Amino acid sequence: MDIRNPSAPDGNPEMADAAVPPPAPAVIRRVDYQPFGWLVPRLELDFQLGLTDTRVAATLHVERNPAATPTGQIRLNGEGLAPLEVTVDGQPTSLWRMAGDDLVLDLPGTAHTIGLVTRIDPAANTQLSGLYASGGMLCTQCEAEGFRRITFFPDRPDVLSIYSVRMSGDADAFPVLLSNGNLTARGDNGDGTHWAEWHDPWPKPSYLFALVAGRLVANRDTFTTRSGRKVDLAIYVREAGAGEEDDLPRTAHAMASLKRSMTWDEEQFGREYDLDTFNIVAVSDFNAGAMENKGLNVFNTKYVLADEETATDGDFDAVEGVIAHEYFHNWSGNRVTCRDWFQLSLKEGFTVLRDQLFSQDMGSAPVKRIEDVRVLRGAQFPEDSGPLAHPIRPDEYREISNFYTATVYNKGAEVIRMMRVMAGEERFRAGCDLYFDRHDGEAATCEDFVKAIEDGAGLDLNQFRLWYAQAGTPRVTVRLDHAGDVATLHLAQVVPPTPGQPDKRPMPIPLKVALFDRASGIHAGEQLVVLDRAQQSFSFPGFATRPVLSINRGFTAPVSIEHAAPVEDLVFLAARDDDPFARYEAMQELVVGHLKDVVDGKLSASERDAGRAAIAGALAAVIADPALDDLMRGELLILPSQTYIAEQMLIADPGTIHHERQALRGALARALEGEFVALHQRASAVPGGLNAAARGARKVKTQALVYLAEGNPDLAEQMAAAQYDAADTMTDRQGALMVLAGLKGPQRTHKLLDFYQRYRSNPLVVDKWFGLQAGSLHPHAIEHVKALATHPDFNLKNPNRVRSLYMVFAANPAAFHAEDGEGYRMLADLIIALDPVNPQTAARFVPPLGRWRRIEPRRAALMRAELERIAATPGLSRDTAEQVGRSLG
Ligand code: PHE
Ligand code: ZN
Repeated sequence: MDIRNPSAPDGNPEMADAAVPPPAPAVIRRVDYQPFGWLVPRLELDFQLGLTDTRVAATLHVERNPAATPTGQIRLNGEGLAPLEVTVDGQPTSLWRMAGDDLVLDLPGTAHTIGLVTRIDPAANTQLSGLYASGGMLCTQCEAEGFRRITFFPDRPDVLSIYSVRMSGDADAFPVLLSNGNLTARGDNGDGTHWAEWHDPWPKPSYLFALVAGRLVANRDTFTTRSGRKVDLAIYVREAGAGEEDDLPRTAHAMASLKRSMTWDEEQFGREYDLDTFNIVAVSDFNAGAMENKGLNVFNTKYVLADEETATDGDFDAVEGVIAHEYFHNWSGNRVTCRDWFQLSLKEGFTVLRDQLFSQDMGSAPVKRIEDVRVLRGAQFPEDSGPLAHPIRPDEYREISNFYTATVYNKGAEVIRMMRVMAGEERFRAGCDLYFDRHDGEAATCEDFVKAIEDGAGLDLNQFRLWYAQAGTPRVTVRLDHAGDVATLHLAQVVPPTPGQPDKRPMPIPLKVALFDRASGIHAGEQLVVLDRAQQSFSFPGFATRPVLSINRGFTAPVSIEHAAPVEDLVFLAARDDDPFARYEAMQELVVGHLKDVVDGKLSASERDAGRAAIAGALAAVIADPALDDLMRGELLILPSQTYIAEQMLIADPGTIHHERQALRGALARALEGEFVALHQRASAVPGGLNAAARGARKVKTQALVYLAEGNPDLAEQMAAAQYDAADTMTDRQGALMVLAGLKGPQRTHKLLDFYQRYRSNPLVVDKWFGLQAGSLHPHAIEHVKALATHPDFNLKNPNRVRSLYMVFAANPAAFHAEDGEGYRMLADLIIALDPVNPQTAARFVPPLGRWRRIEPRRAALMRAELERIAATPGLSRDTAEQVGRSLG
């Protein structure tokens, strides 16, 4: 029973509704943008550091903004701050007042110096926004609106200042003192404290400010830019305490990735680094992946630390990708920043595209493309078809933290990628050059970017701009006719309605297509067709027989294709398409089409068996094909995810989809048991290392076990245990343990215990241990999650740990969608408990419950009830309130 409302029976949403709802937080609209009344060309900050008490003195040099309406007042944002001192031009003043959390000050003249003193308690900051303590060190996180938790300031990205930072603190607790830019002076106070001064010559918005202080050790290196500037590079980690592991050797891969990123950005985008130092600090308590603060990137340890013993091949790739992403922000984000937060995709979409292209160049381009599309479909497509759908350039928000989404990031990248496809690489590059040229030092808009590409690449993007304004994944219906010797492609597009956008206009959709001659198995060349009307047809002469259509090759457009392709065409493409993505796509289509029919009850038993046989045949061909490398073979073996299958259905029954997907896997495994065992044996003999062959071998090895676990659990248990014992990499060990975690045999407990004992002093590996159990196929996974929530290593204050248990759980369809609603209840309980501790992270757990409209009615009602229970919780944060409100919509 809720002690604050003793009359409400447990979990009765009607009673809860009777409580007075808190006022909804104000809506901020893109169309209301106004330039700020003042410029702040220079800012000086002086920190007296303490874990529980830090004093901040800020000096703002302000002058009237000639581009704004003149005003005699300045409004400085604050959050949870009280000013200890306010001065104007060096004199104490009383001409200020608090307006909510903000400080409003009268300024009679055209230029002034404002002095402000605030005090903060970093150790009490569990939100991890602003200045906070993590494992004895101090660090900051200011994007999007964390700076206002440090001092009063116009905390908006279009106010750019040159920062000079001085900090002093205990020399023993904080031997390393870091901020943005270059170190200009340091000294000892002779009383056990010391100080450092940093100056960043590049004007920046407050969200790019950073400060770090602590007992840190560094991996140092240098990089010489193409114009000959020598840059000192350092990656800092916390110094190991007693009983802790030394993380320093685990930074080698990040350092190598950083240097590769610096070279690549010079070669591919002509972008050179612009300071004498580039520092990265790894922190274990972090809300996001990493942060691109000017010259001082702050990273979640998860995206810095990697060695073969503790990180998987996937972790190595993620480190490389995130290091690149944050480094690339130095130009796409820092040198050119955003005018307001509605323009977030300007820096994020573009930077994601840049990091994707980088990773394509560093490894297997087709495999990287497939992985990126899988992420888009797994995370962004569901977002775009649900209550939280928004355009890549949103029109309104209540809490900007809720808009760091797969739509802004990943769909944003796809939209820019489409421009690149239409322009061609060279002209696209010319457009990017023009963009950086025109807007260097500015806070720009998405429109500025499109205009620069339009002008620089010589492209008409008039209609294309709709991609920035309209939400929803376009559905493209495809029909191929054949008459005489002409094949005709009939295309139709529908952009579905989304919240606030009932009617949509057709958008330009660039589709690469190829038509294969059935007999010879070749095509006469790939073509780009741009569908820019509701319906359009394209004719291709020269086909005596009906060709096989390969469409959206390379996934040129982020749309869903609806094409009732005959099974034999999909089998043909899965085996023979020369575009690797299209080949993968054909395999996926084959399986999704089959499972949809099975779930809809459309197939007789013999039709179902025929479908399974066709898929088994295609899989056997994939396993045997000598032309495939194992990395690509691994992709072709992956069954479409439950989320992706559900996404293809109007209303999904998660229980049935899960059951049928597993049944299919079991049937395939039984049909191909010998092939999977042989594949595992062959791959086990490949020598180790980080090269593509070794990585590919590890990938197919675990894939084989995943199949065998469903077809022959006893054999799989034995093979997985052997793989676990023989493992000389985390990839093999985690892969084996993942399979074992879903099985019921004795090896499950045995190896889970072993893993924990082996790695208990390494937090990132303990995260894996939590995640493996939360994501397992074991029928009691839900009980395991409950037990793990009371494990001594579980900690609500560490976002990585919370995500390793509950994000993984929410993505585990069988467990999360338990028929009695227990999974939904557990997630809602977590959100309610986490919200007062860390609202940004709490709000990220709401979307899985928000899927209710697309789930069968019994479960939908249970999900909705949990959302209502959260909504009725007193004192809910703006973050969580917004997400829950939109989800109930
Ligand atoms: N700007 C960061 C990135 O994409 C993400 C981030 C957002 C980090 C908000 C922290 C807080 O690289
Ligand atoms: Zn980013």
